[in-house]
Amino acid sequence: MCGIVGIVGCGAVSERLLDGLKRLEYRGYDSAGIATDHDGMIDRRRASGKLVNLATALAADPLPGDTGIAHTRWATHGGPTTNNAHPHATAEVAVVHNGIIENFKPLRDELIARGRQFTSETDTEVVAHLISEQIEAGREPAEAVRVVLPRLHGAFALAILFRARPDLLIGARLGSPLVIGYGDGESYLGSDALALAPLTQRISYLDEGDWVVCTHDGAQVFDRANNPVERAVVAGAVAEVIDKGNHPHFMLKEIYEQPIVVAQTLRSYLQRMEERVTLPIPEFDLATIKRVTIVACGTSFYAGMVAKYWFEQFARVPVDLDVASEFRYRAPILEAGGLALFISQSGETADTLAALRHARAEGQKIAVVVNVPTSSMAREADLLLPTHAGPEIGVASTKAFACQLAVLAALAANLARARGKLAPDEERAIVRHLAEAPAAINQALAYDDAIRDMAHTVAVARDVLYLGRGTDYPLALEGALKLKEISYIHAEGYAAGEMKHGPIALIDEHVPVIVIAPSGPLFDKTVSNMQEVRARGGKVVLISDAAGIAAAGEGCLATIEMPQVHPLIAPLVYAVPVQLLAYHVGVARGADVDQPRNLAKSVTVE
Ligand code: F6R
Repeated sequence: MCGIVGIVGCGAVSERLLDGLKRLEYRGYDSAGIATDHDGMIDRRRASGKLVNLATALAADPLPGDTGIAHTRWATHGGPTTNNAHPHATAEVAVVHNGIIENFKPLRDELIARGRQFTSETDTEVVAHLISEQIEAGREPAEAVRVVLPRLHGAFALAILFRARPDLLIGARLGSPLVIGYGDGESYLGSDALALAPLTQRISYLDEGDWVVCTHDGAQVFDRANNPVERAVVAGAVAEVIDKGNHPHFMLKEIYEQPIVVAQTLRSYLQRMEERVTLPIPEFDLATIKRVTIVACGTSFYAGMVAKYWFEQFARVPVDLDVASEFRYRAPILEAGGLALFISQSGETADTLAALRHARAEGQKIAVVVNVPTSSMAREADLLLPTHAGPEIGVASTKAFACQLAVLAALAANLARARGKLAPDEERAIVRHLAEAPAAINQALAYDDAIRDMAHTVAVARDVLYLGRGTDYPLALEGALKLKEISYIHAEGYAAGEMKHGPIALIDEHVPVIVIAPSGPLFDKTVSNMQEVRARGGKVVLISDAAGIAAAGEGCLATIEMPQVHPLIAPLVYAVPVQLLAYHVGVARGADVDQPRNLAKSVTVE
């Protein structure tokens, strides 16, 4: 979602700000802008669309100045126009903002009644006007911000630039993350560590309610009660990690990284010699857990859905599963002794974070499976279960999903052992199966060319159905989500057995049906559903292993062969063809697979 970079610099900043925005492109955006302070005035350039448009505007009309702020905007209030692009400015201040000011309407009405004129449809512009009023009333910048912050409801990360103050930026955070960076005679603000990667390796994360005054001498942080506070200085992100290597897209690079990152993740959860599963916090008490509530969004939700099957099967613990945006507002019953488990790549998804805070207020123990170890969710967990996927830049989640599954399988086994439901030989078997996952994923990747070659048969479709049973059902949902977001083809995932209760009406020779069916206990049942599709002229793409394809592949539009694997690791392995198919169909249709339209990497608004 929106990205922020700010620099209190010792030399011209607009190029460095633009470079910072390029590092934030992966978050998804639809307009961008930069403001600097020069010759005692605030000046800005803004453009709708991709950063290249902003770069063109800057080339035509350069923006001098040693201190400035920059933003990539993902439209919420008002369309993705140049006028609505940030920074929003008055003569006195310029503001960039991530999040939503929920009370912007009454604030805007109040400001208009006092004669202020608005030039955008955004919620953000009220912040510029409110601070301006304070400055015009004679307040110093820090005092002006201190007075205005309590008036803002909702979620925000703000960076604020002041007229004729090239030595100053002020940042504030509530709900949306903000990072401070420390340089040599310079200081920085960023919406994440990656934005600041080339500028500094020394950063601090602001806590909820913090605000910060950045100058040439460093940064002074204040908490929500305006007390000066220290926030730990930690290592920033490494600049090199965000190139595509020799892959045409980040998405493909990240699909190919899966064997390595899954192995990396499993190393923290398996003791190979002892053949035991472990947790990063071994003393965390899982034995007394009576119920697990899993909450997440999108692809992370589908990882949670796979986990529900595993937790119930192995640990015999009841599991509730919710998408975060529903969980928070449906008055869920959370009894004492429950574990609430949140799954997120970014650790900043606003709905999941709000759900986490609700569960904590309801007395749940909080476990978090998260890829960004410095994220808000990671910092609010009782049991932090990191995935070690590394930075995921492609907007569509791929390697993070595989690593989430690896952690969740290990957690299921830990829970089962703690609850006395897992015999030592069963635990040993689980460790052995999980340890086989990286090699099996590697084998699955070998079918990339075959999948690319058959992708054109799906690329011409208007609608696509995905079917699966058991843990292949969440994979069917994930396959449909991936195809929708990457190729813009309408797709639905269904439990194979549910198809005859409605979606079978859609079947004709124009609707490819992707059937995910590894051979195993549910294979025959899924194949029966597949035959129901074929009997109605449906064109089936069967994803199975050699035995499955030998048994049921005849007459299919195409088959995609996977290695023969144990059912436990099948979701990790079968995720690969599902991802590759979406990728190749997206490429075949000329879509922007790394930054699909309208999507954001980290969804920091509710
Ligand atoms: C789909 C995708 C999204 C995310 C969802 C949750 O490819 O990436 O559906 O999975 O927005 O994001 P996180 O995992 O960061 O909470």
